[in-house]
Amino acid sequence: MKNIRLRLQVLSVLFCLASSLTFAQKESDLVPFPTAAEGNRGHFLFGQDVVIVGNNASAEIFNSWLLMTNGYALPKAESVAKKQKAIYLTVENNDTTESYRLTVKKNAIYIQGGRAGVMHGMASLIQLISFSKEHKNRIACVTISDAPAFSYRGVHLDVCRHFFPVDFVKRYIDLLALYKMNTFHWHLTDDQGWRIEIKKYPLLTEVGAWRKGSMIGPYRNQQFDSIPYGGFYTQEQIREVVAYAKARAINVVPEIEMPGHSTAAIASYPWLTCKDTVVDVARGWGGFPDVFCTKDSTFNFLQDVLTEVIDLFPSKYIHIGGDECPKERWKECPVCQNTITTNNLKDEAELQSYFIHRIEAFLNSKGKNLIGWDEILEGGLAPNATVMSWRGIDGGIAAATSGHDAIMTPGSYCYFDHYQGEKNLEPLAFGGYTPIEKVYSYQPVPDTLNSDQRKHILGAQANLWTEYITDQKQIEYMLMPRLLALSEVLWSDSTRRDYKNFEDRLHSNERLLKDLKVNYAKSFMRPLIEVVKSDEMGEVQLKITPKEHQHVAWKWGDASDFKKYKNPIEIERSGLIQVRSISDRDTVMLFRKFDMAPSSGCNVKLLTNTKGAYANPTSTLTDGIVGGYPWSGKQWLGWIGKDAVVELDLGGDFSVDSVQVWHLDEPSSWIHAPASVYLQDDSLHSVPVVLGKSAVNCTTVSTPITASTLKVTMKSIGKNPVGTNGAGENGWLFVSEILVYGHKANKE
Ligand code: ACM
Ligand code: ZN
Repeated sequence: MKNIRLRLQVLSVLFCLASSLTFAQKESDLVPFPTAAEGNRGHFLFGQDVVIVGNNASAEIFNSWLLMTNGYALPKAESVAKKQKAIYLTVENNDTTESYRLTVKKNAIYIQGGRAGVMHGMASLIQLISFSKEHKNRIACVTISDAPAFSYRGVHLDVCRHFFPVDFVKRYIDLLALYKMNTFHWHLTDDQGWRIEIKKYPLLTEVGAWRKGSMIGPYRNQQFDSIPYGGFYTQEQIREVVAYAKARAINVVPEIEMPGHSTAAIASYPWLTCKDTVVDVARGWGGFPDVFCTKDSTFNFLQDVLTEVIDLFPSKYIHIGGDECPKERWKECPVCQNTITTNNLKDEAELQSYFIHRIEAFLNSKGKNLIGWDEILEGGLAPNATVMSWRGIDGGIAAATSGHDAIMTPGSYCYFDHYQGEKNLEPLAFGGYTPIEKVYSYQPVPDTLNSDQRKHILGAQANLWTEYITDQKQIEYMLMPRLLALSEVLWSDSTRRDYKNFEDRLHSNERLLKDLKVNYAKSFMRPLIEVVKSDEMGEVQLKITPKEHQHVAWKWGDASDFKKYKNPIEIERSGLIQVRSISDRDTVMLFRKFDMAPSSGCNVKLLTNTKGAYANPTSTLTDGIVGGYPWSGKQWLGWIGKDAVVELDLGGDFSVDSVQVWHLDEPSSWIHAPASVYLQDDSLHSVPVVLGKSAVNCTTVSTPITASTLKVTMKSIGKNPVGTNGAGENGWLFVSEILVYGHKANKE
């Protein structure tokens, strides 16, 4: 009920509808929704008899999109006969904003704005044309005025872990432009491949663009194939892509990683390291200890590389990475230690900062600005640097409060390599859980900033890392439709956002995605399955909320027949629940495996705080569901750099026989199993954690105790150990479930 009211409110604010329209107002389905739209009487009948008048460059792009969606282009006309239907594209060259006006009249469609604005107006019109196919090609008359909320609206693509050819990169850029994004962050170098031709250093692509095999399956399995893999873009191809993007009002920000994530460069030129180490281009994912040395010859190399990069990319920004740089080699290197001494640096963190400052000075001298991942804050931020905040939002807050610009890309909202739906129905992904609803809920400007600091949040960006994304179809699957949610977050007025309303418009946009032959994910259409509390301890309830037109039935795994789902299902025992959802689109099966104990469903209090995306409800720890691997964020609570200490309310005196704690070990993602577990304050009887082969492990503490509240401490290992990703940084500790076995003390 509440949702319906909200939707009506949103619609009424958005659109002043004329009273006598003959069919649905399809402009109301635009994603991102516009600043203002006023419906008018009548419609424009769209078809191949329409001509385009006005700006040639824009007309060419419009026709290229129309070819993608409708399979034909429209003729260009200089002048228009009476009654001839036309689209008028008027580029106002002195308008450098991104705003536009789109007016649909009975015989004419007008799009006006600056170069970028007209592009965005054409993107809106392409949507209206697709929607009109459900309405005999009639586009309702409307006047739209529209402008973006944020100036930086980015999407990233990692072409290092897997390589994608120029034609696909162009298609990707078209998809970005059709949803009004304005920045393409091209991640061109990493441990697993160097993908940009550098004329002065040909081995970067002769050697560095090729690896002898790739990791297959999840990281933990450490399995590899031996199929040579690689590819790179010539400078000519790079120029072609940059021009293609520019024509679509998209700026391309290249990323050249340093000082870490540099294995492919080092494999090409071992002298770039501290010890002239000879390495292969990495086959596997994860961190590698050999990084660029801070000697002058390395800086000269990087400046030469950046000189060629600057020549190729007109972008004001050059991204230099800066993330996840292990410092072990610097600690042992006389040259690096000498750099520390002669520059009065405190430690290797300040050496990293020195590295970034030096590169920044070079970029600034060429009129360019530096962007780096939030690690560039460590040891002191370079004077003009822009921070890309990926490890949560703290990096962005630190940047903005110190007067620096920031672009927000926190993993839990903006990492599109995370799962977006039920794991058993999704392709293997990096881990984490970022469903479209989560993306849609993102507010890029942190509440804690004052009005001056807020101006430094330029916008946000989706990141698409490709460790587990091997082909173009899968890129599209991970991108779409989550891109639509981010597009609206960044373009539209956040005070009018409403997920239910968005989901309805998403359904209309499926028409465009189908016209574009995009392999988009349908994960958002699955029923919502939640575990909710029951009145009794030892029980929980499974609540299912179907989407419209879905019929849901369920059964225990060992039962023969499905029953229609009516009310939340009481879960009193361990076992598998199967949920079947049928709609006219598809039939899917969803599963929940319950591991129940007398403590299941009990109240839990945190004595140390969880953090960020992993500050999930405490009830997760006793919901009867042990999180799986690869992990999906919502099943885990995460603590960073500290012990996990929780208190379970056992509902009166309880005689505890044993306690099971389920935890995760995924060092490549900075997640480490606890060192030990103990009950109450009895650290003397702590049980050391012993890991098996799998990532999800259970530690059992069998200390007999009678208590009504049970304190469980899971000792953190503290920092990420040397030799793992993020060595020396605070590590995460993930716990999914705590099961207490025993019985009520008075039932002895
Ligand atoms: C990152 O995801 N390593 C920036
Ligand atoms: Zn060195």
